[in-house]
Amino acid sequence: MPDDSLTNSKVVAAYRERTRRSERLAAEAIDILPSGIAHDARYVKPYGIYVERAKGPRKWDVDGNEYVDYFGGHGALLLGHNNPKVVAAMHETLDRGTHFGSNHVGEVRWGEVVRRLIPSAERVRFTSSGTEATLMAVRLARAFTGKTKLVRFLTNFHGWHDHMTAGHASHFDGSATAGVIAEIAAHTILLPPGDTAAMRAALAGDDDIAAVILEPTGASNFGESCRRFALQHRCQDRSHSSNDGGGPRSE
Ligand SMILES: Cc1ncc(COP(=O)(O)O)c(C=O)c1O
Repeated sequence: MPDDSLTNSKVVAAYRERTRRSERLAAEAIDILPSGIAHDARYVKPYGIYVERAKGPRKWDVDGNEYVDYFGGHGALLLGHNNPKVVAAMHETLDRGTHFGSNHVGEVRWGEVVRRLIPSAERVRFTSSGTEATLMAVRLARAFTGKTKLVRFLTNFHGWHDHMTAGHASHFDGSATAGVIAEIAAHTILLPPGDTAAMRAALAGDDDIAAVILEPTGASNFGESCRRFALQHRCQDRSHSSNDGGGPRSE
């Protein structure tokens, strides 16, 4: 976002010097978008660059600077920018139409691929964002178990809906983030990340837990330890976890 704080930094001065057009766009954006940005990950001081085009591992901003892109579309672009096969497939798809409002063979085929890649996924529901996916997952867990509470881990990110906000970047005491109803926050049990003992104690001490959610791939910066934690818990619980999940609610 645009920032008019005074600084003697030579790095910031050089950045400003080389990104004049980005600075002008950032000044315009501040009146239009909250904080002048369209995603929190772009909150950069004094302001972020505005990118014009990208190819493979590189991108270019509106001032003509070239960058090696380590961000990769928030991690989504495993094949880099504008991979020719991906672009050809997108063009071919777009030429056939953009929104049919009907079933499509692609959803069946893509669902099969997801199931093959994630063997535990019995059926697949596509959503537009991870935020929707975790919202649905928690609702489903509550409906299935008839229980209400959710265990989460501090600093793990699961999107920004009301059930997932406290404890990710702030509100580590579990209190409600501004705008979230206190009762919703109170139904979340926040634990230290990667702490198997704390999780086991929480599960043993409360009969009203519908789900435990964590980042097994570690998008929030502690990947490997989180993965080990998930595997460790799965192995430890294999012998006695099959019937302590509550079962379907009878209505
Ligand atoms: C582990 C995890 N869950 C959920 C989300 C939320 O996804 P989205 O930004 O698509 O709402 C993210 C986003 O980074 C994530 O890393």
